Amino acid sequence: MSAKFRKICVLTSGGDAPGMNAAVRAVTRAANARGVQVMGSLGGYRGMIHDEFVELTNRAVSNKIQLSGTFIYSDRCLEFKEEAGMQKAIANLKKHEIDGVVAIGGDGTFRGATDLSQRGIPTIGIPGTIDNDITASDNTIGFDTAMQTVVDNVDRLHDTCESHARCNVVEVMGRGAGDITLNTAIATGAVAAVIPECDFDEEACINKIIRLRREGKRSFLIIVSEAFPEVGPALTKKITEVTRELSEKENNDKLWVESKFCRMAHIVRGGSPTLSDRLLATKMGVRAVDELFAGNSDIIVVEREGKITTCGILWSQILDRMYKGTLKEGMTDSLSADEIKEMEKFIEEKKAGFKTTYAMFNELAN
Ligand code: F6P
Repeated sequence: MSAKFRKICVLTSGGDAPGMNAAVRAVTRAANARGVQVMGSLGGYRGMIHDEFVELTNRAVSNKIQLSGTFIYSDRCLEFKEEAGMQKAIANLKKHEIDGVVAIGGDGTFRGATDLSQRGIPTIGIPGTIDNDITASDNTIGFDTAMQTVVDNVDRLHDTCESHARCNVVEVMGRGAGDITLNTAIATGAVAAVIPECDFDEEACINKIIRLRREGKRSFLIIVSEAFPEVGPALTKKITEVTRELSEKENNDKLWVESKFCRMAHIVRGGSPTLSDRLLATKMGVRAVDELFAGNSDIIVVEREGKITTCGILWSQILDRMYKGTLKEGMTDSLSADEIKEMEKFIEEKKAGFKTTYAMFNELAN
C-alpha cells in the first residue's frame, strides 16, 4: 500500500493509439496491487473538467489488452488549456480524493500533465501516439502497430499494382514526423519515401521509375508523409502524365505507369496492438505507477536503447523543440551549458540516424 496515495486517475488524451488500453490496464492493475484505487477520466482531460470518471477495478480492465482505440475515450480538450478549465479539473480531482494522475498521450497531453504538476497534482506522462514524435523516447505506444497496419494495407495495394503494372502513391499519418513513412517504405519495398527529415527530388524519382520500368519492373509504391498533403496527389498525376507522354513519344505502351493515390488517414490508427506495443504499454504503465508512488511528478516514462527510464517533461519539451527547430527565446535559460550540449549531441545523433536510414533505403530501392 502506498503511504501517500489513496486514489489515482488515469487518462488517455490526443489521437488514440493502439496499446493505450494495455497501458490503462497496466496502470490500473499495478496501482490496485498496491492498494490504491484507480479512476479513469473519460475523454482525457475533458472528464476531469466535467466530472466524468469511471472506477477502474481489475475486472474493469479485463479483456482490454488486445483492443485498439481507448475504452476510456480520448479528446483534444481545448478547455483544459484555460486556467478556469484547469481549476475545475483540479476541484473535481480533490472532490474525488484523487492524489495523482497518469496521462497517456503525446506532447499536448504532456503540456496538460505539466500544468497539473505545477498546480500541486503529481502527474506522470506516458508517450502514447502513433507518430513516434516524442524525441526523448525511442519508441511510443502505438507506433509499431501503426507501421504494421500500413505494411498490411500497402501489401494489398502492391498485389493489385503488380497485376495492373501501376504505381500507387500512399499517404500515411505521422503528423510532422517521417518515422512511419520511412520505416514502412523500407518494409514494403517502396521506390521512394517523402519525409520531412530529408530532401526529396521529384524529377529523380520519376526518372528512376522510368529507368526501372525499362528494366522490366511492373509495379511501384511510393510512401508520402501526411506532412505534405499536396505532394501525394500531385506526384501521382505527374508520374501518370510524364510516363504517358514518354510512351506516346517512343510508341511503347509499356512505359506508361498509370498511378493511383491512396490516403490511408485514420485507418493507420486502428487495429489490435502488436505484441511489441502491448509489452511497451505494460512496462511503461507499471513504471509510471512506480514513479508516482515513489513521490515523483512532472516526468514522462520513455524508452531508450530498449530500456524503460524517465525524463523531465520540460526537458523532453525543450528537446522536441530543439529537434524541430521551434525553440523560443529563453526556453533553455534553466539549463546548464553541459545539459544543452548533451541535448544537441542527442539530436545530432538522431538526425544522423535518420539520414543514414534514408540513404540505405534509397540504395536498396532500385
Ligand atoms: O497524432 C496522431 C495523429 O493521428 C496524427 O498522425 C494525425 O496528424 C492526427 O493525429 C490526426 O488527428 P485527428 O484524429 O484529430 O484527425
